[in-house]
Amino acid sequence: LFSAVEMAPRDPILGLNEQFNADTNPAKVNLGVGVYFDDNGKLPLLQCVLAAEKAMMDAPKPHGYLPIDGIAAYDAAVKALVFGADSEPVKSGRIATIQALGGTGGLKVGADFLKKLNPKAKVLISDPSWENHRALFTNAGFTVESYRYYDAATRSLDFAGMLADLNAAAAGTVVVLHACCHNPTGYDISPAQWDQVIAAVKAKNLVPFLDMAYQGFGYGLTEDGAVIGKFVAAGLLFFVATSFSKSFSLYGERVGALSVLCDNKEEASRVLSQLKIVIRTNYSNPPSHGGAIVAAVLGTPELRALWEKELGEMRVRIKAMRQKLVDGLKAAGIKQDMSFITQQIGMFSYSGLSKDQMVRLRSEFGVYGTDTGRMCVAALNSKNIDYVCASIAKVI
Ligand code: LMR
Repeated sequence: LFSAVEMAPRDPILGLNEQFNADTNPAKVNLGVGVYFDDNGKLPLLQCVLAAEKAMMDAPKPHGYLPIDGIAAYDAAVKALVFGADSEPVKSGRIATIQALGGTGGLKVGADFLKKLNPKAKVLISDPSWENHRALFTNAGFTVESYRYYDAATRSLDFAGMLADLNAAAAGTVVVLHACCHNPTGYDISPAQWDQVIAAVKAKNLVPFLDMAYQGFGYGLTEDGAVIGKFVAAGLLFFVATSFSKSFSLYGERVGALSVLCDNKEEASRVLSQLKIVIRTNYSNPPSHGGAIVAAVLGTPELRALWEKELGEMRVRIKAMRQKLVDGLKAAGIKQDMSFITQQIGMFSYSGLSKDQMVRLRSEFGVYGTDTGRMCVAALNSKNIDYVCASIAKVI
């Protein structure tokens, strides 16, 4: 039965974890996967999460099934966070939101629904994009192509190329857009450029699918979420996949969501009914623990304030590490100007290093980033930064 099954390649991001774990180099540093570590190199357990879990343990509950679309309070909290508690879409009830298995799960539920809705549509992702976007939409049955986004030669955005590609897309094309903290490049388009993208999406009747896995890691929760308000103001209907993996440090709990903005409340309830079929036929209903934590934190004013403070601390520390990286690379003798690293935003830096250099970094120094040159600056700390800079200097 399985004799002809081929060995699949390792996942370009999560596969690095397997390699990292097997590496015996005591100096190894994992800048591969997008995970935030504190200055001691530890995965944080946020105080707001701990407080919510303690309260849950003080009043233990049996483990029943959740509704197919998840915890109602969680879905309501997601809508408020993503669209604004007092926003028109929330007030009019025209958003269909489901609790998903992380941001990836939100993307896949949306992709499966879209495939049924418009089976002939193509999907456009940015070039480059999160490695899993192409695979995920391809596995959902779509032909996936890309729009220009980053110009490696000038180490900057190719915004004219992006706009031209969106304007050339056929009506109904699904366009996957990174709402903030572009993964992998770290380069976001400006608010004025978003206006132009939105105008193109509207004029060409494209279907926007926003991926917002890093809300709060750029400039702040409101600032990073502002792009959602722009799409609403333009009168567009769209998909948005969100994640609490990073912002709550709840990676293993798989807590994300998919929200679909519809024309009206009645339409939203029909869309929700279809999303529920996708979920029921894939994994039945979501797990409860992570969603319950997030719902408790977002629904308790003191815990919510604590969360925002802790998220802010993560954001500030990442920015400080960006500067330390630029300074450290200079001190390690690198002549070229690396200050572009501080112009990038979010968890990642597109270093500009080649695949060969990234492979050398791994094999000779135990410093792990993706083959595309992406490094997770959120995993740098005051103890490993000098070693990382010295290692990069040796391969450049
Ligand atoms: C990443 O890009 O490293 C993260 O989004 C984790 C993942 O699932 O790939």
